[in-house]
Parts: sequence; C-alpha cells; structure tokens
Amino acid sequence: MTSADTLDQPAAAGTRTDPEWWRSAVVYQIYPRSFADADGNGVGDLPGITSQLPALADLGVDAVWLSPFYTSPQADAGYDVADYRDVDPIFGTLADFDAMAAKARELGLRLIVDLVPNHSSDEHPWFQAALRAAPGSPERARYLFRDGRGPNGDEPPNNWRSVFGGPAWTRVTEADGRPGQWYLHLFDTKQPDFDWTNEEVKEEFRQVLRFWLDRGVDGFRVDVAHGMVKQAGLPDEAEDAETAVMAQAPVVEAEGAGAAQPGQQVTASEASAAPQASSDEPAVTDRSLYSNYSPAWDQDGVHEIYRDWRRILDEYPGDRMMVAEAWVSPLSRLARYIRPDEMQQAFNFEFLSARWDAKTLRTVIDASLATAGSVGAPSTWVLSNHDVIRHASRFGIDYVDRPNGIGPDDPQPDAARGLRRARAATLMMLALPGSAYLYQGEELGLPDNTTMAPEFRQDPVFRRSGGTEVGRDGCRVPISWQADAPALGFNETGKTWLPQPDSYRELARDQQAGKADSTLEMYRAALRLRKENGLGDGALQWAAEQPDTAVAFSNAGVGVVANLGDAPIAVPAGEVLISSGPLTDDGLLPPETTVWVRT
Ligand code: NOJ
Repeated sequence: MTSADTLDQPAAAGTRTDPEWWRSAVVYQIYPRSFADADGNGVGDLPGITSQLPALADLGVDAVWLSPFYTSPQADAGYDVADYRDVDPIFGTLADFDAMAAKARELGLRLIVDLVPNHSSDEHPWFQAALRAAPGSPERARYLFRDGRGPNGDEPPNNWRSVFGGPAWTRVTEADGRPGQWYLHLFDTKQPDFDWTNEEVKEEFRQVLRFWLDRGVDGFRVDVAHGMVKQAGLPDEAEDAETAVMAQAPVVEAEGAGAAQPGQQVTASEASAAPQASSDEPAVTDRSLYSNYSPAWDQDGVHEIYRDWRRILDEYPGDRMMVAEAWVSPLSRLARYIRPDEMQQAFNFEFLSARWDAKTLRTVIDASLATAGSVGAPSTWVLSNHDVIRHASRFGIDYVDRPNGIGPDDPQPDAARGLRRARAATLMMLALPGSAYLYQGEELGLPDNTTMAPEFRQDPVFRRSGGTEVGRDGCRVPISWQADAPALGFNETGKTWLPQPDSYRELARDQQAGKADSTLEMYRAALRLRKENGLGDGALQWAAEQPDTAVAFSNAGVGVVANLGDAPIAVPAGEVLISSGPLTDDGLLPPETTVWVRT
C-alpha cells in the first residue's frame, strides 16, 4: 500500500486551542520571494501567499513560518531589515499581512514570523544616524563601532571573519572626509551587528516583539540566535578557530552518551521523565566539552535576552513560541536555548547535517531526543531550508563536508537516487516524536537548481567568496504549481527572480495532486497518519532487531523501518500504513525506502 490509498480523507489543519501546540507541530517554511507571486513582478508576495494557504491546510501542516518580508534593500534576501515594523513594497503592505494572517487563522494554521535581531540593514535609520554621528556618540553605541588597529587605525579591530567570506569589519569615512572607525558585520557589509549590551537596542526589540504579537502572530523564528552577544572586549579568534558557522558541520556527541538504548523509550518532550532544569541550573555540559568556542558566537549572555523575551511572550494568550536558529554544537550547547524559561524549540541542524548513514542517523536521533528531553523541550527535525542544499539534491551526491551550494561545474546529483532517499528520509522524520519543519517545495520533491549560470546569482556568499562558493540561490528558486502555466504557476507573467530548472515542470503540484505514489500525496498521507496516530506526541522505542544499515523504531503503535543499505530487508509484521516507495514483489523493504506498519 502506498500513500494514494488515503487520498479521499481530508487532512486536518492544526487546531488553535491546543495548549503547547508547538511540541508536535509540523511547520511549513514559506520563503516569500519564491512561494507565489500575485503581482507578477517575478518576486513572490503576501497576497500570493494568502491565495495559496488553502493548499497548505490541505497538505495537513499545523503552522507556517515566513522568512522575512520586512522593509529591506534585499542585500541578503530580506535578512537585512531597514524597518522592523513594516512590509517591504515588493511583498505588499501591512494590510496584506493582516489579510494573510486572517486567512491563516480561518484555515486553522498558526503563523510564525522571522525576527532578525543580530543585525539590521545598513539602510536602517539607526545605522544611517550612526554614520552621520561622531565616534563615541549614542548613535554609534547601538552598533559595534571600534577604532582600527595599527598606527593609522587602518587595520580591522580584530581578526574576525564574515560568515559570508571576507573580513567582518568595514571602515567608514567620517564627516570630515577622513577614514574613520570600523563597524562589525558578522554577515554582509550591509548587515551591521547591533550592540546587544545597549539598553536602547534591548528596548527596541521588546517593542518589535509586541508589535507583531499584537498583530496576532503565534511565534518567532529567531535568526542567528547564537550570535547576538559577543565576548566583552571583542578579542581575536584563536588561530585555528572555525568561524564559518553556516558551513560548519555540527559535531555529534559520542554514541550512547546519555542516549537511549534499544528497547528504551524516549519521548518527544521527556517532560515528565526528565529533570526540569531551571535557568541557573543548566542540564548541559560545561565549556570544556564545547569544541567550537569562539568569542563571536554562543556567548552565555544571549540567554538573558531570551528569558526577557519569554516573559513578554508569556503575557500573551495562546501559547506564543520562539524557535532558535542557532548553529551551535555539541547538542548540549543547543539545549541551553530551550530551557524552560527561554525558547520553546531550536532547529536541529545536527539532524539536517547527518549523512545518509544508518548509524549516524540513529546516533543523532538518540542524542537529539535525550538532549532536548533533558530540559523538558521537544526535539525538532528538519531536512531542508533556504540556507542549505535541498535534501532531494543533497542525498543525490556523495559529499564529505556539506558544500555551500552546487554549481554547474560541480559533480551533479543523481536525481532519481536523491529523490528516493529524500522520500525515505522524510517518511522517517515524520514518524519521530517532536516537531518537524518542512521547506516549501520539498513536498513536491523539488531539487536545487544546480546548473544556474553565474549572472543570475544573488546570494552575497557568491560575491563575497569571489565565486568560489556558489551560495544558496539553488534552493531558493520559485516553486512550481502548474506544469503548463507561465513561471510554472508561480505567477501569470512568467517572470522569476531566479530561473526555474526544467525538472520543476514534471514536479509541479498539479502533476502530482491526486496521483498515487507522488511525493505530494506521500507527504499528505504521512501528515494525516502522523496526526491520527499522535506520533508527534509519542515516544520512540528502538526496535530490538536493528540491522546495521537500517533505522528501526516504533512510536505510538507504529513500527518504522528505513532501509539505508543496498539490499532488501524484512518488513515488520503488521498492516502496512505507508511506504516511501513500492515494496518488492515478495514483500520486502527495498534499499532507500521507509515503511510504517501498524504493530
Ligand atoms: C540565517 C538566515 O537563515 C540566512 O538566510 C541569513 O543569511 C543569515 N541568518 C543572516 O541573517
């Protein structure tokens, strides 16, 4: 049996009254530039999103998270905000936002928005004022301006590197026309870092939170949550330190360390089983185990900010939440962000970064559940987002370190294998207890555009690395709705800000809807079965029989086996609920396939 057997059953959207709804929520990430374009200018917008929200309710997700739509010069696709309280005209207006939020509410979908507090745009009025003001002024004190080193101050204040390549400092010209101070930007030159020791900055963001909470948002995805506080004095990085955090593969702790053994139960939240850590009693390892220490990242001071914000969120009804984008490792450091008085969730980038290898995945799953559980939080699961190669492409290449995009000159992914593995990985992920994040288009099995010509590239990573890193544009291409429509149904004019690859035509939503075995119907059926069986709120129990090349567990009466090997293996006894591909003629589970059975 495959997903199509369940087609006629409507998928239920999330109910807005669930307490702690986020513990088991499936959250769909919308990248507004590339979801749906109502005005036809080639860039997606809020009215486009509103028009397609029913498709997401129909898919069966509980919530949507929108990447930034705020006023922005778009130097980093909106992660460079010039006005935190308004919508950029390319995306619409505040009235369009309200209409979208109302539609989401009507459909029972929760709404999470992105918050970008580490840095603003250089076109933010505060930064413009800082440029006009003198060194030492209150205007400069909202950012990290410092004098340079060397006799004329013409060397940067320290050796930090931008995550996007090149130095993390840019020198300004003072009012008298002379070269002056330097300002810190952990990302692009056009993204100056705030000084989070500054009380004005803290108060501003409290007000920004309230602005969107008052408009009814259910939560925030907190960008660069591990970067906001820097070590006092801004000391140099150690020579051998890894600063390219977005390209850094997280470290999985030793297998078995605090993790479940076969036969042992591990729940999504471990709320009842695990000791609840209080803020001054961290249930995590100390600094000596922290292998990637850097004065720019993951400073203990960030946690004060989240405790402050949590108090604000808790004033509002409806269980508002925060999810941390924090590329920290090991997982024990990540647990600090989700202690009971901080954020509710953090993205699980260890899981996203795991290779196609059964032992690695078992270890990551174990460590994730144990670590989140140690602070009473649910684990999260994610395979794709707007910063990484989509998993349908990633699993189609053999790689050592996670590359920053795939370009036309790189070895190209095996599309069929990539999709097969992606479907198997997704079906395994959706059976895990906790909350899962999906990235727009993965329900269609979309790959990256891996053959994009350099002239189309817009990611600052491409420019700042001198083209040595192709960057993230490949995963940000407008998604496909209809095979025989302009821009594959993204809009009515055919314009797209990034080119869509040929493969997006046959993968368009209208080609998959209602078709047995399509990736779209597999997602729809899996989300329905996940909800019906309460898998998000369940508990994982490792199977007693654990072939080396399989990931086998049960959760809430559903047995799950993912076959990562290259030979068929047995399917557990019971009714087959869904599989990511057909079983063999003699009822075995083929390689690169996952099955759910009712045990
Ligand atoms: C993480 C975001 O996901 C990414 O797209 C962005 O470039 C950086 N943060 C900087 O805001």
